Amino acid sequence: MITKPTIDRIMEATDIVEVIGEFVQLKKRGANYIGLSPFANERTPSFTVSPAKGIFKDFSTGKGGSAITFLMELEKFTYPEALKWLAKKYSIEVEETVESSENKEEDNRRESLMIVSGFAAKYFHETMLETDEGKNIGLSYFKERGFNNDTIKKFELGYSPDQWEAFTGEALKQGYQQEFLVDSGLSVKRDNGSLYDRYRGRVMFPIHSFTGRVIAFGGRTLKSDKNVPKYVNSPESDIYHKSNVLYGLYFAKKAIREEDNCYLVEGYADVLSVHQAGIENVVASSGTSLTAEQIRLIGRFTKNITILYDGDAAGIKASLRGLDMILEAGLNVKVVLFPDGHDPDSYVQKFGTNAFKKHVDDNKKDFILFKTGILLKEAGNDPIKKSEVIREIVESIAKIPDSIKASVFIKECSYILQIDERALLTELNKMRQAKAKKDHHNQQTPRQQQMPDEPHFFDEPIVEATKDESSQEKEIIRLLLLYGNKMIDWDGIANTYIGPFMIAELSDVEFEDATCKQFIEIYRQEVENGVLPEEQHFIHHRDKGIVDLVVNLIATKYTLSENWYEMHKIMVPDEQANMKATILGAIFHLKKQKVGKILEGLRKELQTTPAEADQEILLNQYMHMKKVEKTISDYLGSVILK
Ligand code: UTP
Ligand code: MN
Repeated sequence: MITKPTIDRIMEATDIVEVIGEFVQLKKRGANYIGLSPFANERTPSFTVSPAKGIFKDFSTGKGGSAITFLMELEKFTYPEALKWLAKKYSIEVEETVESSENKEEDNRRESLMIVSGFAAKYFHETMLETDEGKNIGLSYFKERGFNNDTIKKFELGYSPDQWEAFTGEALKQGYQQEFLVDSGLSVKRDNGSLYDRYRGRVMFPIHSFTGRVIAFGGRTLKSDKNVPKYVNSPESDIYHKSNVLYGLYFAKKAIREEDNCYLVEGYADVLSVHQAGIENVVASSGTSLTAEQIRLIGRFTKNITILYDGDAAGIKASLRGLDMILEAGLNVKVVLFPDGHDPDSYVQKFGTNAFKKHVDDNKKDFILFKTGILLKEAGNDPIKKSEVIREIVESIAKIPDSIKASVFIKECSYILQIDERALLTELNKMRQAKAKKDHHNQQTPRQQQMPDEPHFFDEPIVEATKDESSQEKEIIRLLLLYGNKMIDWDGIANTYIGPFMIAELSDVEFEDATCKQFIEIYRQEVENGVLPEEQHFIHHRDKGIVDLVVNLIATKYTLSENWYEMHKIMVPDEQANMKATILGAIFHLKKQKVGKILEGLRKELQTTPAEADQEILLNQYMHMKKVEKTISDYLGSVILK
């Protein structure tokens, strides 16, 4: 852990305008600075920085906080990563507590590996640009492939001489330790203990971490001998886990964020050529099939992935299944094929940027539809194969966490597959139920089985049913945020503030969602202190869970309430005009849900309690709660539906 004194020194040194200024062009406006939001695409600046308060506020996305929050949001750093970034910028030595002394040794090891990798990248790069062998063989190869000086420099491309010990000899001479040369994979140990170069006579592609440090290499042979592997890559090490690295991400992340899309290609050459063509939001998974970690990495910057495949169709089918993973992560996937014999590299080099962009635009297909097309073509007229296709497609769709998006795909696929939409929906719900059962295994049996007296639940997709739980709690919070500090007129009899009224009414309700519960607690405290908390109070709250909850509710204000009322078949054309119904409706629906839960529990207990005396007590409680439920229902009926 970074020590408190270090944190204090970092905070003291940090100039928020200077830090944010590295990412956003800021202009002085009075006491503050303004600029274009780095979190949104905007033309008029809504992003402000207050040096006096040491905070920023982005009015288009609602994000706000300190310089550290900013780095965490924009660069996706963890808290310690952001602190270390600032420490480096302000040349502050970072002190860490003793408890992590083991980690420190580990950190030192990792640092040494990165230093030796950085040295190697520089060595290969300079060797290529400054020696005869480098220029004649390495540089001329890259030039022939169409890479210009800027690209070669930016990606630190290099050349490793065709000798046994050129690099290793130089590294040892400069004092780098054998241990790190071997562990980084740059050198290989002979049986007699001496070292030799791993990448002899290869052109070198350094692989950067997403914060820009060299952590590994890919070395391409220049021989066409089939027995020589085309690429030799660094082995796994303490700094290089190839399953969570994407080639080019460091150079692409800014553009990925700006374009809100990430192009995914297969090879180093594809990244370089596409990037050089001015399309900078491109990364490669470098030979491995895409992993969950890599998807998560992309997901930090955008929710949209466009996969660019080369024309050879053999690999495509094999990779289709892997792509479901991207859907599961909640990302949108599009696919573009290149004509036979072309990969993104060769296409953009041959036809240029505009033709490339046009090809991508004209040919990008949504993954699900792309997959449907391919499988359907394969199945031909065979009805058994076709039903398999349907299953497989619905399986993919079932992985999409957003149920609205899923239902759009169902619609489109029903058209392509020539199958009744309802049949597909039934299949989808079956799969979802099976999945929910699996997820809830040992925790809870699915809701339908517990509520046999409410048969309509059978017709509803299970997603809706589970979402329902916290959505009623969230509805309460949305109303508190929106109207808590407004007055409500009880038919001309009395005026009260909505916030304190709701809090009092809900004093007997236990919120289930942890963040909702925390929110209500904070609100109650403030009310007890005689304050009516405003939206801003929660937006600037130090707890990220609270900030997220509030921002999400504000962002989806309209859609949420619309869904909620629709779900309960309540017509409230304008919630402000019918404030009483809105507020009471939300409170009593929540109460009704809680009572329903209690009843459910009692029912279960009744079934498993053998003693008659106990049964009678339970039965009495049950009858009582039934009455409460009826009172609430009657009340809801009279207030809402009149
Ligand atoms: P490609 O053979 O398509 O490489 O393999 P490329 O980058 O397009 O290279 P050029 O155009 O022939 O020069 C795609 C990726 O698969 C990995 C590399 O990461 C490569 O960029 N690969 C390929 C290996 O790791 N080892 C190999 O032997 C071949
Ligand atoms: Mn290629």
